[in-house]
Amino acid sequence: MRLAALLAALRPVLPLVLGLSLGCSLSLLRASWSQSGAEEQCLGAAGRPGPLGGAARPEAADGTGHEDFRPRIVPYYRDPNKPYKKVLRTRYIQTELGFHERLFVAVLTSKATLNTLAVAVNKTVAHHFPRLLYFTGLRSAKVPHGMVLVAHGDERPIWLMYETMNYIHQHFVSDYDWFYVMQDDTYAQAEQVKALVTHLSINQDVYLGRAEEFIGADEQARYCHGGFGYLISRSLLLKLHPHLDSCRNEILSVRPDEWLGRCIIDFLGITCVSQLQGQQYHTYELAKNTELEKEEEEEFQAALAVHPVSDVTLMYRLHKHFSRIQLDRAYQEIQDLQSWIQMHPWLAVLELFLLQVNESICC
Ligand SMILES: *[C@@H]1O[C@H](CO)[C@@H](O)[C@H](O)[C@H]1NC(C)=O
Ligand SMILES: *[C@@H]1O[C@H](CO)[C@@H](O)[C@H](O)[C@H]1NC(C)=O
Repeated sequence: MRLAALLAALRPVLPLVLGLSLGCSLSLLRASWSQSGAEEQCLGAAGRPGPLGGAARPEAADGTGHEDFRPRIVPYYRDPNKPYKKVLRTRYIQTELGFHERLFVAVLTSKATLNTLAVAVNKTVAHHFPRLLYFTGLRSAKVPHGMVLVAHGDERPIWLMYETMNYIHQHFVSDYDWFYVMQDDTYAQAEQVKALVTHLSINQDVYLGRAEEFIGADEQARYCHGGFGYLISRSLLLKLHPHLDSCRNEILSVRPDEWLGRCIIDFLGITCVSQLQGQQYHTYELAKNTELEKEEEEEFQAALAVHPVSDVTLMYRLHKHFSRIQLDRAYQEIQDLQSWIQMHPWLAVLELFLLQVNESICC
């Protein structure tokens, strides 16, 4: 009777006890087995100096072999003639493994337009880009909420460009593949710009935008117009950086985009292109008093970047216009898929899914 009561009390912990004892016996079994194995090995090496025993330590015979295993101390010596290279420890496992984020966006703005145009950029496209910073010469007393602003302390446009390039190189060159530079009077189609970089292969020198001729210069070389934004690859930025100081001292220009273009052409021999690897950088120059709703040109509909955006209202209207186009395109794609599915009846499940997608994008 008492035994039964004891068993009943032990019942909940029975599996635990069983498991423990099984584990203990297994480990004991394993220990004794490996011990006997080791003993056999010892016998093999010492008792029977067969081929195995001899081969295991070939250098033991002449005694000099031990020298090889003596630790040597190699003193740290730094060549004073070589420039000292600081070793930077990366902080993220992503950079440790050599992964890069794809796109970094710099928006050049100014004290005068920070609270108007730059805010409009922020409200229309900023949230589409993974990383976006605003660069200005002087900052106003009040920085708009939620915008990361870098002020260089000098309003001269060339200086702003020079400092911005330096800053991007210093802080972001190791983390991003692509650098997109635009102005606050640029309307850029964020999704299209993002799509563009996914179609370009990295590890090449890219200077892609709206290629413009230098005024009064008779040459093949072009610079990328700053108003329409341009894309610079990581490798180009790395090559450009050592020359920035020389460019600042030697190249005279009133326009920062021309200055940068001249710097890239003169020191690296690379010119701005509007087309690369089958990807076209479409732009559209807005005329004064354009009526967007009547703008039918294909060039406008396809534009990746539009310039000049003279005021905030125009920026929002452009955004509305291009969002509309995107939406129509999405609906069209859904419709195409739907008719395709109808031709393949066994895909009816997909149709349900598509209807849900259609609902989710519309509302
Ligand atoms: C700017 O954009 C960021 C991210 O989309 C947002 O958090 C912030 O509130 C915006 N600020 C303004 C002034 O629009
Ligand atoms: C998708 O939704 C829009 C708006 O609700 C509607 O006009 C359109 O007919 C729908 N398309 C399909 C294929 O269901």
